Amino acid sequence: MAKLLNIGMVGHGFMGRAHSNAYLRVNQFFDVGYQPVLKAVAGRDKDSTEAFARHWGWERAETDWRRLVEASEIDAIDICSPNNTHCEIALAAAAAGKMILCEKPLAMNLDEGRRMTAAVEGSGKPNMVWFNYRRVPAISLAKQIIEEGRLGKIFHYRATYLQDWTISPKVPVGGTATWRLDKEVAGAGVSGDLSTHNIDTAIWLNGPVTRVCGMTEIFIKDRRRPDGSPARVEIDDVCTFLARFSNGSNGTFEATRYARGRKNKNSFEVNGEKGSLYFDLEDMHQLQYFAHEDPPHLQGWRTIFVTGAEHPYMANWWVPGCVIGYEHTFINALADFLKSLEKGERAWPDFRDALETQAVAEAVLESARSESWVSPGQV
Ligand SMILES: NC(=O)c1ccc[n+]([C@@H]2O[C@H](COP(=O)([O-])OP(=O)(O)OC[C@H]3O[C@@H](n4cnc5c(N)ncnc54)[C@H](O)[C@@H]3O)[C@@H](O)[C@H]2O)c1
Repeated sequence: MAKLLNIGMVGHGFMGRAHSNAYLRVNQFFDVGYQPVLKAVAGRDKDSTEAFARHWGWERAETDWRRLVEASEIDAIDICSPNNTHCEIALAAAAAGKMILCEKPLAMNLDEGRRMTAAVEGSGKPNMVWFNYRRVPAISLAKQIIEEGRLGKIFHYRATYLQDWTISPKVPVGGTATWRLDKEVAGAGVSGDLSTHNIDTAIWLNGPVTRVCGMTEIFIKDRRRPDGSPARVEIDDVCTFLARFSNGSNGTFEATRYARGRKNKNSFEVNGEKGSLYFDLEDMHQLQYFAHEDPPHLQGWRTIFVTGAEHPYMANWWVPGCVIGYEHTFINALADFLKSLEKGERAWPDFRDALETQAVAEAVLESARSESWVSPGQV
């Protein structure tokens, strides 16, 4: 009999939907010792929060997230509200002794991230940050292939995260989803929103980043707020950087919302002495692999169709050949979190892992400002 885990979720937008779906589905596909209960969801607007609660089966709706933190029956606070809310909610939840699941990026900046990490570690409660791409089966398989030594010594790590939804000057600064263009709410532009995903995956697959050299640009500097008033854009529209890893490999990273035709192209290529890997989220059920040990006349990139029971997470889903999608990465992540509770092990990636990513992202922005190489700050 699974133990009940009462969830209080803050925010009911894009991630609120993805997480609600995960809470509802996880026990149907994974045999884990905990069962999430959709206890309460908090939003700012009463009607839309109540409508969301009814639609997804949350027991009650609140218009102040503090009510969730104060509620004695709630075990875990899930933060899926914009970045400028993460710190205050996490500090309050940690003080109240709640487990915390927090959306990425961890914080608005490194200083906030340090305070949040100290608070959750001080509370001793389990915590996780939703860098969900680690739970794409093909990316988990890439991790396995690297750990098996099949690439040998790594020389290059090459990552991109490309979108195109802010090319129109009519996209406002502020509002649902478009808060990402407001520095006061997002903290940073694509470096915080997109590069952090690439950095988290890179550190997971290839180890710590020791130095970065970045370049950013704001292509449209003047926009309007949703109410029509003028707004100066202060977040990075594009962020490109070079990186040195502690294993001696070199990295290049590019994130933008101005790559016409690219919707969510989160890709990476890793080149090692013995082989290479390539992944693209727009073909997320595939992993490309080149093995130099293959007989020369058979050498070539092979496409691994990551749908077999022998692949990470896939035994919990359908039969070989049937793909899973974006929403399943959150279910896989939640299943791992619940398993970590069961085993009393550290969940991953946790606040400390996300702090390491935050430090790299902040170093990139500092490097772009100072036009010099910068080492990530201490975490
Ligand atoms: N893991 C991922 O791949 C991924 C994808 C998208 C977004 N995110 C992250 O998730 C978070 C939310 O992003 P989103 O895309 O869901 O945004 P969204 O704009 O779709 O939804 C944000 C929600 O937060 C609510 N909200 C805002 N301020 C609030 C407050 N003070 N109290 C309570 N609720 C509040 C809004 O009403 C809305 O329901 C961000 O930190 C974002 O970076 C992560």
